[in-house]
Amino acid sequence: MSLAIVIMAAGKGTRMKSDLPKVLHKAAGRALIEHVILKSESLKPDTIILIVGHQADQVRNAVRHFPVTCALQEPQQGTGHAVMQAEAALAGFGGEVLILSGDAPLFTEETLRNLISFHRETGAAATVLTADISDPTGYGRIIRKSGTDSVEKIVEEKDASETQKAVPEINSGVYVFDAHTLFSSLKEITTDNAQAEYYLTDVFGVCFRKGLRVAAWKTPNPDEIHGINTPEQLLHAERLLLQS
Ligand code: UD1
Ligand code: CA
Repeated sequence: MSLAIVIMAAGKGTRMKSDLPKVLHKAAGRALIEHVILKSESLKPDTIILIVGHQADQVRNAVRHFPVTCALQEPQQGTGHAVMQAEAALAGFGGEVLILSGDAPLFTEETLRNLISFHRETGAAATVLTADISDPTGYGRIIRKSGTDSVEKIVEEKDASETQKAVPEINSGVYVFDAHTLFSSLKEITTDNAQAEYYLTDVFGVCFRKGLRVAAWKTPNPDEIHGINTPEQLLHAERLLLQS
């Protein structure tokens, strides 16, 4: 099966309190985005598409020696909108699409391979990598269809009810999709939500309502899922990257 990887890196990252694009901050001697690209390359994909937007020229320049195709997202209207920008570069591609974020460099190759294997074994159209964590605040919550292991939808913190906020299973922001399902479902999502953005996570609800198989694979190692939003998290990530 052919594999394309889309890395989302167009967002602003205001909490780093710095003029440098978030994904160009360094940990363990490399920019965050380089860590994510190197990990992507280890999976031997057919293609890697990098979504750039905020400070696009700086990010493009920093990755110029890597075998990635950059797609511009301008303006930045959410993660779903980010992935829509990869459609032209993937025209005619009928394989699987793995989605990563440029600010989340801690996933191991093993975890990503396990996610892809699970997606294939379950015959899912969409699979999300999840984790149970003690403080799920800020993350999207995985809402499973009661009595099944199927994912009914993913609800963002800002849109969640109190009951949904109590769910400990969170969205890591890493997914595998069948390419056709992904791009056709993205045409059905709207900005009718608390942040008025196109949420990539809404593709799960779209697929579920169509009766497609929607799966979730829970990693036994929640440390990997932490994205980097603050200088403190950058230091923490550096420690983990140096250990790995
Ligand atoms: C996202 C997920 C959330 C999940 C979390 C995991 C959505 C709607 N929510 O939330 O469920 O728990 O990740 O970390 O997807 N980006 C773009 N263009 C945009 C917006 C974002 O390229 O217009 C990029 C960012 O640069 C970043 C990634 O997408 O690399 C994730 O965006 P971010 O704003 O951090 O999403 P969260 O709100 O954390
Ligand atoms: Ca984030």
